[in-house]
Amino acid sequence: MNTFEHHESSVRSYCRSFPATFKQAKGANLIDEEGKEYLDFLAGAGSLNYGHNNPVLKHALMTYIESDGLTHGLDMYSSAKEHFIERFQNIILKPRGLKNYVMQFTGPTGSNAVEAALKLARKVKGRENIIAFTNGFHGVTGASLSCTANQHHRGGAGTSLNHVSRMPFDGYFGENTNTLAMIDKLLSDPSSGIDKPAAVILETIQGEGGLNVASSAWLKGLRKLCDKHDMLMIIDDIQAGCGRSGDFFSFEEAGIKPDIITLSKSISGYGLPMALTIFRKDLDIWKPGEHNGTFRGNNHAFITAATAIDTYWHDNLFSKDIKEKGNLLRKRLRNIADRFGPESLKLKGRCMMSGIECPSEEIAGQVVQSAYKKGLIIETCGNRDQIVKCFAPLTISNEELERGLNLLEKAFSEVTSNIATAAAS
Ligand SMILES: Cc1ncc(COP(=O)(O)O)c(C=O)c1O
Repeated sequence: MNTFEHHESSVRSYCRSFPATFKQAKGANLIDEEGKEYLDFLAGAGSLNYGHNNPVLKHALMTYIESDGLTHGLDMYSSAKEHFIERFQNIILKPRGLKNYVMQFTGPTGSNAVEAALKLARKVKGRENIIAFTNGFHGVTGASLSCTANQHHRGGAGTSLNHVSRMPFDGYFGENTNTLAMIDKLLSDPSSGIDKPAAVILETIQGEGGLNVASSAWLKGLRKLCDKHDMLMIIDDIQAGCGRSGDFFSFEEAGIKPDIITLSKSISGYGLPMALTIFRKDLDIWKPGEHNGTFRGNNHAFITAATAIDTYWHDNLFSKDIKEKGNLLRKRLRNIADRFGPESLKLKGRCMMSGIECPSEEIAGQVVQSAYKKGLIIETCGNRDQIVKCFAPLTISNEELERGLNLLEKAFSEVTSNIATAAAS
């Protein structure tokens, strides 16, 4: 038994799939204590869109630390926070027609940003019920866990998870079923048993739930439904945001404006804890300190977040580059699926948030383990953990992306030929 197995709680999870002890990381590469190098297609579960120890962000952070800039600031005004707010407002919100939205710095986890979003929606509308979707994932604390669909996580609550009505996501019943029409009917019928909701919360591309993509038409329709039934639209962009979909926000392609947006994971750009809830100014009915948190003023995160926005989002070149890489990734994944399982493997997701659905959790798990042995860190997702999910940093070079995909291809080849051999014997 190692130190971790002895002394760390059994709740630990990623380390069970990747039991190496890592000591260094740079860009899309991880190095363990034995000096073995790995390509990282996990990227901190989407927290490292700009790679490990990104040199531009690191330089800004080191310079700030050396100047004795504030580290911890509660929610007091600081130069670092002011700079972030200005950059985020001018480079991200304003050009996207969201200049009348305000930023709430919540406790530094995605789940806390979701808690704030749900509290605010309930407070604004004076109603308890929230609509959340099949396979949605929004965190594992009280209200956020109520919105999370996954039974494994819900089972850990130890209490009832209330005040959420579960509705079918786009495509949940197959291509030919219009889930919006179902939702509309349920909300329009005073005897459907669905209490009038304050809001809907959703991911436009479900990350943990299986890389399920809501179409632009469905998102536009949902926006209309929200207005029709007087519900706020909360888009949880914690995983799909910060460029993962090709645009800064994942809902940009659909041309919709949510009422509330949550961001975390890659917003700091450096893997530092930071979370934001963003909403229309007219919804800002919070009383001072009503939702607070000791660590909502992580000034180091403000420095790296502002630098990431300045560096990558001041024009549309990065977005163009992500979309090109996304095309390359999806082309290679489609080839892998066609080659090793034209009937059984399926391409999922969108842009740099893509993966391959396997027939079972066991097969996906074997692919992950085979890839790990070959030097590729990659995880699974999905309602049955049956999807191999590629989450390379967005700054990865094409050469590294291809190299990682070659390893993934070898892993699929190995696993499928083992299955064929076992079936033949
Ligand atoms: C869409 C989404 N929302 C919320 C969360 C929760 O974030 P955190 O783990 O930082 O609490 C996650 C985490 O994976 C997520 O993917």
